[in-house]
Amino acid sequence: MLLAIESSCDDTSAAVMDAEGRLLSNVVATQEMHRRWGGVVPEAASRAHLSNIVPVVDEALRRAGCGKNDLRAIAFTRGPGLPGSLHVGVSFAKGLGLALGIPIVEVHHIQAHILAHFLEEKKPSFPFLCLTVAGGHTQIVRIDSPISMTILGKTIDDAAGEAFDKTGKLLGLDYPAGPIIDRLARQGTPRFAFPEPAIPHLDFSFSGLKTNILRFLEKNMRENPAFVQENLSDICASVQERIVSILLNKLEKAALQTDIRDLALAGGVSANSGLRSGLTALAEKHGWQCYVPRPEHCTDNAAMVAMAGHFKWQAGLYADQEVTAEPHWALTSP
Ligand code: KG4
Ligand code: ZN
Repeated sequence: MLLAIESSCDDTSAAVMDAEGRLLSNVVATQEMHRRWGGVVPEAASRAHLSNIVPVVDEALRRAGCGKNDLRAIAFTRGPGLPGSLHVGVSFAKGLGLALGIPIVEVHHIQAHILAHFLEEKKPSFPFLCLTVAGGHTQIVRIDSPISMTILGKTIDDAAGEAFDKTGKLLGLDYPAGPIIDRLARQGTPRFAFPEPAIPHLDFSFSGLKTNILRFLEKNMRENPAFVQENLSDICASVQERIVSILLNKLEKAALQTDIRDLALAGGVSANSGLRSGLTALAEKHGWQCYVPRPEHCTDNAAMVAMAGHFKWQAGLYADQEVTAEPHWALTSP
């Protein structure tokens, strides 16, 4: 059995996977307290990881029907992420690995999001392109194997998840606003037009959109102070439609440039219903294949860390006890 730990941001998660790569359990403790601060407070997040990690690991082992002595390796997220949060998972994995005398396997958080596809029945074939969209990152990645990935384009400012969350803040919604905007957008009509930024190559930008939304709200609220309340679902539908079109236009460009026909989504924002249906429509238009993990494997979880750890474990790629958290770990690092 392989135990996997994820603690890069505000979710403490543990999963157990067998040696054939079958997921036996996946437990996620989400830190609800950040809602009231409108964003993740790093110091509070690391303290919550400290109190959550032992019960979460115990529960993952219990649900998998195994004990610590059945474990043969421990995978953990080394980075990127919040330093204090990562440190809890890294230290826990090192300590338990040392106590049990078993190898530890370091996992890159974005690689784990991408490899979450291999937890599903329908798996992409190599090479494939993955749009990784989360609260801290937005990239188009070419995947040649489970351990060989290249970034083709990335955001030059905010991540797609930040675009959702910052819009939510302007609209007075709770954090994280992505799922709330998604829900409201389904009841609305995208009748407000926000311009699409002209960014070269396969890169993205979302800060201009945020400024446009702010100006739009200021102008309309001057004329009608109840503008947001009266038009909330239409505003959400319009913002979501623009974020989705920015993302999918670049993914389409990348597929045409590389001639790669297998397209995938990963990261928290891939839970977005507009993005999921937009990708399906894009793939149908061109006769391409598309892959989207089930929603609980899109947001942060240890099942994806187990999958990524499984590939490295099988390849004999272990970390040593000197390993430390790497908050800015680049995707292309070995
Ligand atoms: O991958 P993730 O759980 O954490 C990071 O690694 O960042 O992604 C969290 C982000 C947040 O910005 C959240 O608002 C966004 O994913 N998100 C969504 C949806 N569900 C989560 N954004 C849009 N629509 C959703 N349904
Ligand atoms: Zn993530």
